[in-house]
Amino acid sequence: MTDPLTMRAAVTRRYGSPDVIEICDAPKPAPAAGEVLVRAHAATVNRTDCGELRPRGLGRLMFGLRRPRRTIFGMDVAGVVEAVGAGVTAFKPSDRVFGMCPFRSDGAHADYVCLPETAPIALMPPDTPFGEAVVCEGAYYADSGLRKFHVGPGHKVLVYGASGAIGSAAVQLAKAYGAEVTAVVPTRRLALARSLGADRVIDYTAEDFSRIGERFDVVFEAVGKTSYFRYRRLLKPAGVFMATDVGPWGEYLPLMLWSAIARNDRVGVPLPPRGGARAFVEALKARMAAGQFRAVVDRRYPLAEIAEAYRYVETGQKAGIVVIDVAADPPEAVRVN
Ligand SMILES: NC(=O)c1ccc[n+]([C@@H]2O[C@H](COP(=O)([O-])OP(=O)(O)OC[C@H]3O[C@@H](n4cnc5c(N)ncnc54)[C@H](OP(=O)(O)O)[C@@H]3O)[C@@H](O)[C@H]2O)c1
Repeated sequence: MTDPLTMRAAVTRRYGSPDVIEICDAPKPAPAAGEVLVRAHAATVNRTDCGELRPRGLGRLMFGLRRPRRTIFGMDVAGVVEAVGAGVTAFKPSDRVFGMCPFRSDGAHADYVCLPETAPIALMPPDTPFGEAVVCEGAYYADSGLRKFHVGPGHKVLVYGASGAIGSAAVQLAKAYGAEVTAVVPTRRLALARSLGADRVIDYTAEDFSRIGERFDVVFEAVGKTSYFRYRRLLKPAGVFMATDVGPWGEYLPLMLWSAIARNDRVGVPLPPRGGARAFVEALKARMAAGQFRAVVDRRYPLAEIAEAYRYVETGQKAGIVVIDVAADPPEAVRVN
């Protein structure tokens, strides 16, 4: 018989390769006042989780100097509310919810996670399977970047790396905001980029994307792979360059710094606005329900094989999201992208 006070979790007590992750029993959390206890059905392994496992640069300042501050990672979650703490009014047991876990407390790589009712979570869009609802974190960065520059009708947006979690979300959201979107991807992702609604797709392995003879209001560099100097000729005179990474050899950092000092907003990072996450999840839910946004699911792994999922995400070659099926439910339909 299972112990009602414990749960299965992927526990990481020290930094290192995916080999340091242990699947073991951990105390089942109980919801405090103002918290909801969620039975996790799906989670993801994403680039944030990989950064938390092996922090680069100043990452340890954020995640813990000597060892991870929290031992259960996992940012995106979709599941069912099992219990609520005193005073909770926004959710009730049996609600299907999705959203993001705060990164300072234990995350979704476990059977259960406790979240404040004010966390960036919302009721799931009807008919969306759990495995297709764990899309928020990448989409949140994409959306923050597009909104920072008020992307809308009449704007031309180029998304470089349009097959990743952030890039595939940026294409869909820029289209939903009414922009004209050009997506740059490798050959094997051309069909995916078209299916996301891109107006034009460019295979960067077959064509020099920086010499297509067009200029853009926004260039969204979603993978940090290419020198800024190749993008310069793609920008309109008042165009902006936005990057989710510091670029090759940290090349974008001085540009970001220069832009911040000069307050000219020419080079930006899609930093989410303070306090905007809950509203974002609600807005994403509406877009999913309206068919304007869908998950791009690359691979799925059971919780017991989460180390394999990390290894795959660390290759930098995933398309969209890598789902962890936490609950031992019958697998949901897998979308082939
Ligand atoms: N997702 C997050 O939550 C998150 C959080 C914080 C920071 N970030 C940062 O944001 C960046 C993007 O993250 P992500 O999660 O969206 O990435 P990702 O899902 O790992 O995406 C990588 C995608 O980029 C494509 N790609 C690889 N090399 C490329 C190249 N040279 N040119 C064009 N496309 C290329 C890959 O396709 P092929 O393999 O087919 O080429 C793959 O589909 C990363 O630098 C990451 O560190 C992400």
